[in-house]
This record gives sequence, C-alpha cells and structure tokens, in this order.
Amino acid sequence: MTTTVFRNASQLVGVVAEGTSVKLGSAFRDPGVIHDGTLVVEGSHIVWVGRTRDLPALPSQAKVFDLAGKVILPGLIDGHTHLIFAGERLDEWEQRLSGQSYQAIAESGGGIMSTVRAVRQASRSKLVELARPRLERLLSFGVTTVEVKTGYGLSLKDELRCLEAIADLNASGPWELIPTFLGAHAVPTEFANDRAVYLHLLCDEMLPEIARCGLARFVDVFCETDVFDLQESKRILLRARELGFELKVHADELTPLGGAELAASVGAVSADHLLCVSDRGIEALAHSGTVATLLPGTALFLGVEFAPARRLIDSGVAVALATDCNPGTCPTEHLPLIGTLACTRMGMLPAETFNALTLHAAHSVRRGQDLGSLTPGKQADFVICNISDYRQLFYHFGINHVWQVYKRGQLVRENATSHSAGKAW
Ligand code: NIG
Ligand code: FE
Repeated sequence: MTTTVFRNASQLVGVVAEGTSVKLGSAFRDPGVIHDGTLVVEGSHIVWVGRTRDLPALPSQAKVFDLAGKVILPGLIDGHTHLIFAGERLDEWEQRLSGQSYQAIAESGGGIMSTVRAVRQASRSKLVELARPRLERLLSFGVTTVEVKTGYGLSLKDELRCLEAIADLNASGPWELIPTFLGAHAVPTEFANDRAVYLHLLCDEMLPEIARCGLARFVDVFCETDVFDLQESKRILLRARELGFELKVHADELTPLGGAELAASVGAVSADHLLCVSDRGIEALAHSGTVATLLPGTALFLGVEFAPARRLIDSGVAVALATDCNPGTCPTEHLPLIGTLACTRMGMLPAETFNALTLHAAHSVRRGQDLGSLTPGKQADFVICNISDYRQLFYHFGINHVWQVYKRGQLVRENATSHSAGKAW
C-alpha cells in the first residue's frame, strides 16, 4: 500500500480523538489544531497525524509532499441539499423581491411545484447531467460528502428516477452521496383536494417500495403549515422508521409548528432549518441528541431571521451547518460562505463553525465513525487550503481558498489559486 506524507502544514485542523462524534460546550469551541503538522495516509485511510518534528520513521518508498505552511482540513460535508432538480426559479425570485411571500407563491402553484413540473419532464440521464456540475462546484469548495434529497418528483415513478440519478452520480464521481427520500416535500397539485390519498400513497406504496429497492438511507418530511402538519408528518416518519429508515425533518423553517419537538420525539438523526424553533423545541433536541442542521444561506436568501444558533449551542444541542442547495430558497454550493454567515449572522465562532461543517455534519448523516475529522483510522478525505490559519476560510469570504481535495487518499480536484499561504491578501 502506498504511504503518502503531507508535511509542514501550518495547521492540521479537526484533529479529534477516536470515538468522538460530537463536541459540546467548550469542546465545540476547540478546532482541534496541531500547529506545524504532518498527515500520513496509507491507501485510503489516515494513519498518523502530529507535529512534523515528531514524525516517525517512514518506509523508504513513501511519497512526501511539503505543504510550505498551508492548512489541512477534513473534507467538508454538506449534510442537507436538494441537488436533484431541473430548471431555475428566477421569476419567482423577482416576485419575492417585489414583496410576495414564499408561501403565497407556493399556494398559487409555483414554488416547489414549479420545480416538480420541470423534474417530471427530465430523464434520469438529464437529471444526472444537471446535477454533476453542482457536485463539481461543491467539490471545488472542499466538499467530499453530500447528502442529496429527492422531493421534486412526488410520484413513485418520478421519485425513483431521482433516487436512481443520485445512485448514478454516486457511482460515477469521486464524491460520496447520501440519499434521502423526501416524497413528503409537498402534496402535489393532482392531490391538492385529496391529501389523504397522497398520504396513503406515501406510507403504503412509495415508502415500502423505496425500502425494498434500497436506494435511500434517510427519509425526510417538510413539516410546515400548509405542507405536512404535525400529525401527518409523524405518521410518515413512524412508517419510515418501521421500514428501517433513519429520519430527518425540515422543522420550524417558516412557522413555529413544533417540528423540532416532533423530530426529537421520533428519534430523528437531525432537525433542519429551525429558523422559528421554540424554547421547548430546543430543550427537546438537547435531550434527544438530535443534531440541529442550520442552513443560514436560506435565511439570507429568503430575507428572514436567522436560526437561534447561540441558544441552540448554549443549550447543549449539537449544531451542524449545510447549504440547503436548491433552486427556490438557497441556490448556492458555496459551503465556506455558509460558514461566514454562521459567524457573522448567527454569532458562531470560527471554531464552532468549523466543527459544524465537519464532525457534526458527519454525525448528521450518521458517518461520524469514518468521516468528519483528521483521525487515524478514518477515511483519508481531506482538503489542502492556501491559507495559513483556518479562520481565513470564513474571514476572507466569498472566494475559494481550496487548493487540493483528496477523497479516500486520492487527489480528486486541484484548483488554480491566485495567492499563497501566509501572504496577506
Ligand atoms: O429546504 N423547505 C423545503 N424545501 C426547500 C425549499 C424547496 C424549494 O423551494 O424548492 C428548503 O428550503
Ligand atoms: Fe431543505
């Protein structure tokens, strides 16, 4: 097996003890930095991290790279995306800029349903072709693992095609995709006057068939006023749990419905969005160990209040961050910029933000055992950035600091960079 040594990094960030899946309280404020560090990879896994001066003797055929003061991070993880879509929603965006609400647009047949109409027209290969550049852009920002939701098909046939497109993309790229079935994203127009029938279809036809074909790991529900209420969401989630899925919930995004409490009560792995979460919801999440996945790009793009990240963190909830990349509420793949929003608009410290994008994001997709930190034994997914201090990733914002991206020990992306580590911009 090839041994590769990456030496003389100014910082290795995200060095975490084996077995740590979440960092709460003061530990969350610790970025896990080794200064003047070296990372050693054997095949597809990390085998050693430490100070360069403590590097043990290596096999003579080891390949050695001198990083000259750059920073090494674990591969970033985007734990919440809606990447499988067709079409843009530029007109809708303008309508919102002119004062119409997201909900009013959805009620008049736009919003999610307008993307559903476009996806239903798109073949499996078209969906793959449309999503690949989005994944390439994520990769260029250092994102090596991506949760991808369906939710723009909303019929068994169309949802299955979306899941197949995710499987095709997973098999053909260097990235790792984690598929989530979001058939409960909206009640499609054809069932608008018959929602009970769609619920029956979801619980008794779609979920069992999707469980049978094994193309989804998680099931998610958009628990929201005028979408799926608490009772309906609970029914779908319990059915999914019974079929062996792990659960996620779009909770308290636009209105304070109690989605966080529901997510906690059904043992969901994560409750996502939480812009309107109540104190009781926060308490329930802290108690259940459900990860709060916050998506500040969505609050920015909708022009609404950000999620109460500080109250969540200070109450002992494990917070992760993700893009929510989708054509309606957050059209971006710029995960580091999401980190800047977390710092500047939600009061998160750079170290907390970093942990939310790595360790906690891994935990939010149940991959904490092998991803999310620079820990010997974990998969060698890591990113070399042209900065000398990891905080520059969020501070010098809106540009890409990533130089090289490694997945399972292999170089899978190299960006041209215009400046060098350690030099002021
Ligand atoms: O996470 N909230 C539901 N789903 C997406 C938006 C989907 C859309 O508008 O197309 C979200 O914000
Ligand atoms: Fe979402």
